[in-house]
Amino acid sequence: MSEGSIAADGVIDTQTCRTVRVDLGERSYDIVIGDGLIAESGARIAALFPGSRVAIVIDETVAKHHLPAFEASLEAVGLEHETFTVKPGEGSKSFPVFQDLCDRLLAARFERGDVVAALGGGVIGDLAGFVAGVVRRGMPFVQVPTTLLAQVDSSVGGKTSINTRHGKNLIGIFNQPALVLADTKVLDTLTPRDFRAGYAEIAKYGLLDDPDFFAWLEENWSGIFEGGPARIKAVAHSCEAKARVVAMDEREDGVRALLNLGHTFGHALERGVGYDGALLVHGEGVAIGTVLAHRFSAEQGLCSEADAERVEQHLAKVGLPTHMSDIPGQLPGIPELMRYIAQDKKVSRGALTFILTRGIGRSFIEKDVDRDAVEGFLERSGDKA
Ligand code: GLY
Repeated sequence: MSEGSIAADGVIDTQTCRTVRVDLGERSYDIVIGDGLIAESGARIAALFPGSRVAIVIDETVAKHHLPAFEASLEAVGLEHETFTVKPGEGSKSFPVFQDLCDRLLAARFERGDVVAALGGGVIGDLAGFVAGVVRRGMPFVQVPTTLLAQVDSSVGGKTSINTRHGKNLIGIFNQPALVLADTKVLDTLTPRDFRAGYAEIAKYGLLDDPDFFAWLEENWSGIFEGGPARIKAVAHSCEAKARVVAMDEREDGVRALLNLGHTFGHALERGVGYDGALLVHGEGVAIGTVLAHRFSAEQGLCSEADAERVEQHLAKVGLPTHMSDIPGQLPGIPELMRYIAQDKKVSRGALTFILTRGIGRSFIEKDVDRDAVEGFLERSGDKA
């Protein structure tokens, strides 16, 4: 990771920036992280794709906050652009919106050498990345993530998709961006709840294999919420961790599954509330799921109760939900949650796979986890909750 002033063709950067390289051979790319980066995104895109036209994919909410600055940066370097707006929310990750976007890009005569810019959160990144991957058999695309969750997770690693009635993210492709521009200042426009939800994914990187980072987060989390150097450091460190994993296992044949710590329980809970973001957003599901994964590991004698307690205390301190009973409304019963868990993407030939842990920063992939043990644990967790 390089730090400080970066000079690239046409880019004069006076900010403190960090650059993380995702090392994937000819598909390698940079993630640039820094306060105020959106103002120089045009120059950075022009440095990679001089003279291209830029198709900006964005939702109505992000457009209100950040579109003028992004457009101004493109105009400053003479890049033509056109904006394609969709409605905010998971509903836009659908076949009809995907089809409509492809059609609109073609109608606007975007060519193979032009660029798709995904300006928004995970929904926009997933949708625009998929569109870019198939229009004219593939156009380059740039991720400009505007949520914390997208900056530390979904904009990095090339997973792109839409949802179907059978479940989330079931239709899509691996399609790496050509560049990721993470402006940490734009995160100031997030609601505290959405910021906290993204923080759950940052904590995950400490819990995976980096106990020193988790300890640093315990000391410095409030600085990340305030903004400035601690936020830049946390985003960069998270991207570096993700880049390392993606470089080892781009298509999730092995170690990349570790990034699903807390997600097996979390996804089941999200589905349990019918993906109603008013009740539970993804990062909140991950927070509860991460605590459950540690509690389950402790119950299995894999890690200490003290470590599970420490994880729960930290996530609770930043204001994240940590118990199933923190979710408003009625969850389905445990047998139904078990049915959702049995449909997890990591299930292999019917066997349940979970990311479990031997302690803080000592997570591992456990294949063939005993269903009855999980069901009994969830029953007891429900009682305790
Ligand atoms: N969000 C998990 C992954 O990108 O693999």
